[in-house]
Formats: sequence, structure tokens, C-alpha cells
Amino acid sequence: MKNQTVVILDFGSQYTQLIARRVREHKVYSRIYPCKVSVSEIADLEPIGIILSGGPNSVYDSGAPRLASEILDMGVPVLGICYGLQAAVLELGGTVSRGKSGGEYGRTRIRIADHGTAFNGLPDELTVWMSHGDMVDSLPGGFRSLAASETCPCAAVEGLDGRFLGLQFHPEVTHTEMGGVILRNFLYGVCGADGDWEMTSFIDSTVAAVRRKAAGEKVVLGLSGGVDSSVAAILIQKAIGHDLECIFVDNCFLREGEARQVVSTFHDHFDVKLHAVDASERFLSAIKGVADPEEKRNRIGHTFIDVFKEISLSLKGIKYLAQGTLYPDVIESVSAHGGPSAVIKTHHNVGGLPAELGFELIEPLKDLFKDEVRQIGKLLGLPSGIVGRHPFPGPGLAVRILGEVRKHDLETLRRADAILLEEVKNAGYYDRTSQTFAVLLPVQSVGVMGDERTYERVLALRAVVTEDFMTADWARLPYDLLALIANRVINEVDGINRVVYDISSKPPATIEWE
Ligand code: XMP
Repeated sequence: MKNQTVVILDFGSQYTQLIARRVREHKVYSRIYPCKVSVSEIADLEPIGIILSGGPNSVYDSGAPRLASEILDMGVPVLGICYGLQAAVLELGGTVSRGKSGGEYGRTRIRIADHGTAFNGLPDELTVWMSHGDMVDSLPGGFRSLAASETCPCAAVEGLDGRFLGLQFHPEVTHTEMGGVILRNFLYGVCGADGDWEMTSFIDSTVAAVRRKAAGEKVVLGLSGGVDSSVAAILIQKAIGHDLECIFVDNCFLREGEARQVVSTFHDHFDVKLHAVDASERFLSAIKGVADPEEKRNRIGHTFIDVFKEISLSLKGIKYLAQGTLYPDVIESVSAHGGPSAVIKTHHNVGGLPAELGFELIEPLKDLFKDEVRQIGKLLGLPSGIVGRHPFPGPGLAVRILGEVRKHDLETLRRADAILLEEVKNAGYYDRTSQTFAVLLPVQSVGVMGDERTYERVLALRAVVTEDFMTADWARLPYDLLALIANRVINEVDGINRVVYDISSKPPATIEWE
């Protein structure tokens, strides 16, 4: 059975994926398409609603994306957000003024004069998040303004007999008070959503689909112990049992206890057919003497592909390669938000595998966002240590030891990182940060222990909060917690006599140091 679908047309907003996630939080399936997609492709999806995202352009910029007017003629409810509102107004004969009174940025109060469907059940005043230079000046025929801010008379508008809702502010960001209710009012009040996007039914339909596709065939999957490959493994295992063969490669760049946990969880508890391989020496010799971050990443990536290739080809009769690809990896992007991080650092993971191996692909998570994968992991009974685990880069601790990686430094960093994570978890801050880790710096500094002068390494602590890992803020961990961690690390870990806390946000810094 097909889920009711809301289509999001991306005009290049940094929030487009957030809109899609917010819609799904209301149990409505959403998909993102570039704003230039053909109208017939949209029509074929039979969407119950269409959302036009914001965007970085002015509608008057040369080459600014336009909205195909047929979208507004389809008879489907439309929500235009910021640029999406302006593009629709322009198509329907209204006007947009350019940069009048400098625009509005940040938190802004709006007064609701007419609640319409959008503001049903909401107070007469709200604080919302604005980020616009241009604004709607005059409305197309049959439209009316629902709400205004001090400078923007059309902060929210309704038209097309209630089928069009336009918001100059961003209901998808948490700074907008009641943004979730406004979105919900659109989905349920205007689009007539049933709320049929449920993770339990996703599991059933996905297991059935994998069974249909791969029954009687063998599937291989690279299990890293991260949430994506773990959830993919259990879903496929449910469908085809021991015809799924998982390969876990210990590259010796993992966190403390991780290799053991993967074996005990998947082999011992879930009875997954698991080939656990210790390839530590191979990885270490591949990066021996290499200090350049990109070169390290490349060599680790290639070594992984070589090891995985050898093992999977030694397993006889494999037809499919399963991967934990997520929806954000396959969204076709129209803007720069395709990922500075993807350009700045090479994210190798298993990207090169399918072509190299000649297997067909199975990607059971390719319609899901990370938070949905976590929900499914919970429903499947995966331990919270896996479901709630912070993301971990493929090259692991090797990119958290700056410069050349020595075996001894890996032990030092693993221990220090484990202390950091233990204390952050004990203090209840693990789930309140998106990523927390330690970085071993290639810097020595002078210290004093007892009567002895020391000359040892510096450890940096990094903890960030982020919605999407494209931008991130450093986490405000309590001073006492930082003090406890620093004290323990310096006392318990040989070779470190100084601890610093990284207070850079992304951008301009990145989350990882290499
Ligand atoms: P940066 O450092 O670019 O990181 O701000 C953004 C997110 O990506 C993760 N990251 C990786 N993930 N393979 C991965 O699977 C990689 O090679 C890789 N490098 C960075 C990083 O941990 C953060 O979550």
C-alpha cells in the first residue's frame, strides 16, 4: 500500500531537509524534489500536498528559480514558505517588493488577525523565525493576509479558496513558536492527511520487499556497528535469515569496546551470520608515515575496499550487496547545501564498493532520515548503545590523531575518549549532544606531576549540537563536568598532561579536526 505523500519542492533552502523531517514527524511521508522537476513527475506521485521551500535568491535575481504555474493548478493544497510564498505570489499576479526596509532576520513577533486553518487553536501573537530581504507587497486576487509583523504586512496569507497557505517565516525551525502546530494544521486541516507513515508498518513492508527481491539468494553487508548498517542488517536478517552474511572489519581505529560489542550483539544475541576480521596490521601499515589528512583517508578507504572485496569474494554465491544508505544521501540537490563537508573532506565509507564488486544493491533505508532509522532500531530491539550512538567517521580514530598515527597513540586516544564518553553519559549529556569525542593533538606541552616536570601531549575535547551536521554549535558542557574529565584523563592516561575544550562552531570550523 502506497503512503500518502507530501512533495517538497526545493528552491535551495538550507532548511529543506528539515521541512521533510518535520512533515514526517507528523506521520506523513514526504519526499524532496528539485524545484525544476517536471510537473508530470509530481502529478504521477499523486501528492496530498506540495510544500515550496525557501531559498537563497531574490525572485528578481537573474536565473532565480521560478515556480511552474501548473503546480498551482493541480488542485493539490500548497504551502509556500518564504521564497516559496513569493514565487507563488508572483506566478498568480501579485507583487513582491525588493529588500524594502532591509528585510527581517531572526526572531520576530507576528499578530494574527485572521486564524484561517493555519493558525487554528493558536494565540493571537507568536514569535516566529524570519530570514528574508524581499516580501510580498500586494496579493493576487482572492488572497487575504492572515498575519502581519511590524514591517511585513503579509507574514501569513491564504488563497485559492483555502488551498494555498503562504508563510513568510519558517515554521520548520524550532525558534518558531508553535511551528509544528502550523505545519500540522496544513497537513491535517488542509491536505486531509491520515497519518499513515508509521515505522512499524515500514518494517513489515520493507521486510516483505527484501524477501520478494532476495529470497533464495545470498546478500553480503558491511557491518560497522553504527546505527545504519546495524538496522539494515536486522531488517534483512528478518527477511532472509542466514542468507545474509555480514562482514565486520576491525581497522583498529574503533572506540573502546566497540569490536567486542558488535560481535556480542549481532553474533551472540541476534544470531546474525557474522565474519569478524581483524585487519589492524594492514590498516596500520597502509598509513605508516602518512601525516596528510586526505592521504590518510584515501589509504584507509582503499584498504577497506580491498579487505571487504577479498572476504566477500571468498564467500560463494553472493548476488546482492546491502548498504545502509539513507535518504539524505540520495536527495538530488539544487543548491550549495549538497554539503560543504562532502567537498572539504572525502567521505569514503563504502561508496566505491558496488562498482568494484559487481553485486546488485539492496538499500532498505534509502527512504529514511536518521531519526527514523533510530526509531526502527528501537522497535527491532537493538541495544540503546547502538541506536543512540553518535555518528563516527569511517576512518575513525585515525582522523582524530592529528598527523601520523602510531599504534601507541591509538591506545592513548581510545582510553581518553572512553573516559570522556563515560563521564558525559554519567552526567546525562550524551543524548543532549550530537557528537562528543576526543582528539589527540601533535603538540607537547610542559606540565608538572608531583615533583617531576612532564613534557606530554595535549588532548582536545569536542562536543557539538546540530540538527543536520552541516552546521553545528559547540556544546555548553558544564565547567564541573569538563573539570572532572580533564582531571581523570590527566591522572589516568599516560602521555597526556593537558586538556583543552574546542569552542569553535561549524562553519567556519568543521566537526572533525581532519
Ligand atoms: P565534518 O567534520 O565535515 O563532519 O564537519 C560532518 C559529519 O560527518 C562525519 N564524518 C564522516 N562520516 N565517514 C563518515 O561516515 C567519514 O569519512 C567522515 N568524515 C566526517 C563527522 O563525524 C560528522 O558527523
